[in-house]
Amino acid sequence: MFIRGMRVEATLPHFQTAWLFYHHALASFSLRDYGTALASIDKAIGAEPDNLRDHNLRIAVLRKLGRHEDVVACASEILRMDATSKTTLALQAEAHQRLGQDQRADEAYKKLLRLAYGDNAAIDALTSKDTRYHVNHVQKRQTPYMDYPIHVQFETYAQCNAACTFCVYPDLARKGAMMPMSLIDKIIGDLEQVPRHVRFQLSPFGVNEPFLDKRIFDILDKIRDRLPHAEITLTSNASPITEATLKRLSGYKLAYLWLSVVDYRKEVYEAKMKLSYDRLLSRLDMIHRAKTEGWFPHPVNLSRLKDNSEHDALYAAFMKARYPLFEQTLWPYANWLGGTSNEMTSEIADIPCSHWFELRIDAQRHRSTLLHGRPVEVSVGRCNQGLGLGDLQSGRLPALAA
Ligand SMILES: C[S@@+](CC[C@H](N)C(=O)[O-])C[C@H]1O[C@@H](n2cnc3c(N)ncnc32)[C@H](O)[C@@H]1O
Ligand code: SF4
Repeated sequence: MFIRGMRVEATLPHFQTAWLFYHHALASFSLRDYGTALASIDKAIGAEPDNLRDHNLRIAVLRKLGRHEDVVACASEILRMDATSKTTLALQAEAHQRLGQDQRADEAYKKLLRLAYGDNAAIDALTSKDTRYHVNHVQKRQTPYMDYPIHVQFETYAQCNAACTFCVYPDLARKGAMMPMSLIDKIIGDLEQVPRHVRFQLSPFGVNEPFLDKRIFDILDKIRDRLPHAEITLTSNASPITEATLKRLSGYKLAYLWLSVVDYRKEVYEAKMKLSYDRLLSRLDMIHRAKTEGWFPHPVNLSRLKDNSEHDALYAAFMKARYPLFEQTLWPYANWLGGTSNEMTSEIADIPCSHWFELRIDAQRHRSTLLHGRPVEVSVGRCNQGLGLGDLQSGRLPALAA
């Protein structure tokens, strides 16, 4: 680099030369000119080899260039200077993963966890999946979601047309409770305080069927007008969705419409959900037609609760053949913390819960869960009893005093 015709290396002390090259690299990085950024940052490091600032930029540039082996080497260099850098360990692990070196990725992730949780034998015993789950949890602690929820769910009207054998709705103590519009306005007003660059998921339903609430489109209007940073998601058993409802729904920005269809066999479906299978199919046919004709632009996902039998694959095949434009998810059965008597097909691992970053409000204004990644002892509410951590109306949050 030249200033007024003079090579800077020849005119400036090393640290000033490094500073200039660093800023040149930073500017090139911002312009996405990663080749130039790398050349400049290498010169900065040449002038001042042990400056962490330069190595941290170098690893970011190498990552952008997809030079994973160099990322691993650069990470080792940074960790030699600062063994406590969790960001570097995460980048090193990611690079190992990209190189197909899963075991080495796990080792780096586990080092990161030891830095976050302290030396703990339980960390050594974690499976690869749980290791990554923990890392995700630790990384979320560095995000705005420590201060704002990542997902807000509120149940506007505790009413459902079904009575699923695997759901707490049939025994719901608050059945029929309607959340007052004033409270919905308050929730939306509170969420307006979330900075616009912090996106979050917003689900206006709980243990209920959202399309039974006649106010649902008024509520969606309010969300659309006042919360542009909310990603709206809706989950339904599909039976109440008429063509007119779907046409209205198509006008909103939905991240997805999730349709819960537990089985592909008429008798099993009707026994488990206590809904008409013929009506379900006519609704699904109509929704699929809307996708074919192109007037319902949002992703539609069919969800089955998997029982690990051959019917999981048969369900997938049946739905794929009949509804090729829908996505599918096989979701495990849980049991609502013992609230239902169905067999579970999920395991609850003994690891921190991702729901700490979520906020759920039921129609009786209890916070079912107020979860913010803070390591506090809390009593977990059962969704059918309306037990929660506090009452929005009174503002009391007793369990959080812990
Ligand atoms: C409580 S429902 C509310 C929305 C709507 N009524 C529906 O069924 O899609 C939300 C989701 O919870 C799922 N669900 C209910 N009971 C479950 C259980 N025991 N285990 C796992 N998921 C369950 C449903 O299948 C549905 O996808
Ligand atoms: S799972 Fe959904 S459709 Fe079934 S009873 Fe519960 S709330 Fe209603």
